[in-house]
Amino acid sequence: MNLKIKEYKNSIDEVTKSKIISLLREENSDSILAKLSSDNIDSFIEILVRSNKLNLFTCELNNEVIGYATFANKPSFLVSEFYEIKYKIFLNLLINFHFLTILNLLISIVRVDIILLNKTNKQLLESNFNLNLLAIKKKYQSKGIGKLFLEEILKKIKAQNLILYITCETYDDRALDFYIKKCNFEKIGIKLRFFKNLHVLSKKIN
Ligand SMILES: CC(C)(COP(=O)(O)OP(=O)(O)OC[C@H]1O[C@@H](n2cnc3c(N)ncnc32)[C@H](O)[C@@H]1OP(=O)(O)O)[C@@H](O)C(=O)NCCC(=O)NCCS
Repeated sequence: MNLKIKEYKNSIDEVTKSKIISLLREENSDSILAKLSSDNIDSFIEILVRSNKLNLFTCELNNEVIGYATFANKPSFLVSEFYEIKYKIFLNLLINFHFLTILNLLISIVRVDIILLNKTNKQLLESNFNLNLLAIKKKYQSKGIGKLFLEEILKKIKAQNLILYITCETYDDRALDFYIKKCNFEKIGIKLRFFKNLHVLSKKIN
């Protein structure tokens, strides 16, 4: 398979950006980001590629973007790096009546959502790379591409950083199977969300 993994740093072209926005809306519709306007998601992606604390990867097959993944060097950077657009995001969610999403954002910002994690796992989560979003286009799913994509990204991250673990979260039971059965992640607890909690997972990579 002619798969190409690309990391976007400093800049990104409009075509790739719009492909990522479509993938996000189609495959990660439960995410906070998918609730935002395209203009806000656009600003999010621009910050993502300019930040040296956040990472954006795409997976391309015959020059078509069929997957993407975003990482934060630590989960707290997902709040701090987007500080400049925080009012824009809140306003966008408010005028579209996404009150539960606002509530979930707030409990995440004040870190109440990790209250049920034990001290060791809280520390593990807060001090390691976090896989924030991952998707493979529907017609290419269940062909082993997601696993391969993640393995290749982790190799790149390991080569550039001294980190021990990678963590991620998901609402979805099929994605949970993907992380645990296919990619050897381990469930370490839950993050509180209204009204469906997130599974929190980790994988030792060093
Ligand atoms: C999860 C996902 C990235 C895996 O990519 P993939 O290329 O399908 O993964 P692989 O082919 O390597 O592994 C397939 C396994 O992933 C899981 N899976 C397949 N389709 C899935 C889907 N739509 N959603 C969640 N998990 C899925 C299943 O366990 C599947 O095993 P099976 O083929 O034996 O049923 C991809 O399915 C996807 O984009 N899902 C929707 C978005 C999502 O849930 N993202 C993760 C949370 S941020």
